[in-house]
This record gives sequence, structure tokens and C-alpha cells, in this order.
Amino acid sequence: MQVQLRIQRNDPDVDVKPHYQNYTVDVEPTDRVLDALNQIKWHQDGTLTFRRSCAHGVCGSDAMRINGRNRLGCKVLIKEIGAKMTIEPLLGFEVIKDLVVDMEPFFASYRKVMPYLVNDETPPATERLQSPEQRAVFDDTTKCILCAACTSSCPITWSNEEYIGPAAIVNAHRFIYDSRDNGTEARLEVLNESSGVWRCRTIFNCTDACPRGIQVTNAIEQVKRTLLLGS
Ligand code: SF4
Ligand code: F3S
Ligand code: FES
Repeated sequence: MQVQLRIQRNDPDVDVKPHYQNYTVDVEPTDRVLDALNQIKWHQDGTLTFRRSCAHGVCGSDAMRINGRNRLGCKVLIKEIGAKMTIEPLLGFEVIKDLVVDMEPFFASYRKVMPYLVNDETPPATERLQSPEQRAVFDDTTKCILCAACTSSCPITWSNEEYIGPAAIVNAHRFIYDSRDNGTEARLEVLNESSGVWRCRTIFNCTDACPRGIQVTNAIEQVKRTLLLGS
């Protein structure tokens, strides 16, 4: 089938403002949007710039707005979208070129919550044991691939650059409720700041946007409850 892609182009080094460029490609209905973009890049216009790596929904590098919704280009089939689509970079981030945005503020927020196991105790001879029930408590938030679809879909992040954002909270959640971790207090301190969880207004865009199906808003609410009630 033939598909028309209307893609937002922007090279801030030369363009005064973003503009749209149309491309037509021949694809199979079962191809992904990423396949159509690759076809343009490889056969029509090598200047089109976008991030991608795994092409299998694992690396998180190709989040973009497809017909106004944050999706991974490699997870959306052409037949789900139809013969016309508009593709734009994630909202709320500075555009470096075309669909590539500056992810540094996103990763700065991520680093603030110490997204790694904190435990200075002498490790046991074999491994730090955890029951299936203890593991289940944070199973959902282990699935994050740091694509930023959630943070970019949250209206609070569009208007408040200080908000740490849902992705950072998801990754804090992953360790706060890990029975082997001792860094909870420090993480909760970060999330209790004015830039932390209280900025969230339970809008749920983040949950709708997550390509991994993570219950992002629930995770944020759980952290809020822990801050209020201590459990
Ligand atoms: Fe992406 Fe979901 Fe992780 Fe947000 S929580 S960064 S949407 S995988
Ligand atoms: Fe934003 Fe999600 Fe909260 S969209 S306001 S972080 S529920
Ligand atoms: Fe890796 Fe899409 S290219 S998630």
C-alpha cells in the first residue's frame, strides 16, 4: 500500500521555524512506522533525522508523536494508522534536529532518584534473597525502557520545567519498593520536594502513553501514599 507521511522538519541551525515535509512510500500494512521512516531515510532523503536502535520496542529510542499520540515508531503497524500520518517530535523537549530531541533534562531527572540498588551492607555469600511476593510489589515498574513517552505527554511538564516527571518517579518506584534496597529515604526526600510527586495532578496521560503498559499514575499515587502515610 502507499502511505503519505507528513513529517515535521526542523534544523535549528538553519531553519527559522519548523515546517512539514510530505513523503510517499510503498509499504506492507504489517510494516511498522519505523520501516516507513527508514525507507525515506535510506532511499529518498538522507537528511531526515530520527533515533532508533533495536526496532523491537526495547531500547526506547524512537518515541515520537504519531498522529498526535506518543508512540514508539517500531511498535506501531502501518495498518493501525492508515494511509496518512503526521509525525512530530516529542513535546516538551528541545529539538536538536527533526525528530531528535534533547533528552539530557529527562536523564538529569532520572539520575536524581538514584535509579540503582543502594545497599552498603556486606553482601551474603551467594545472593540477596527476595521472595516472589516481595518481587511482585515492583514488577510493573521494572519494565520501563526510558522512552520518555510518559514525561512528554504530561501537561505539567510542558508548563513546569522543574517537575521531575513520571518516568523518574517510575524508576524511583522500582527501587523504593525493592526489599533489598536501603536508599528509600533519600529517594523520597527528592520526590517530596516542590519539583516532586506533588506536581502530579493525576491526569493519566502518562499511563495512556506508556508503550510498556506500565500503570504509571498508580505508581505515582503509591509513592504519594508512602510519603503521606509511610507505607
Ligand atoms: Fe517510557 Fe513507560 Fe518508562 Fe515512561 S514509564 S519512560 S512511557 S517505558
Ligand atoms: Fe502528568 Fe501522569 Fe501525573 S500525565 S499529572 S504525571 S498522572
Ligand atoms: Fe528501540 Fe523502537 S527502536 S524501542
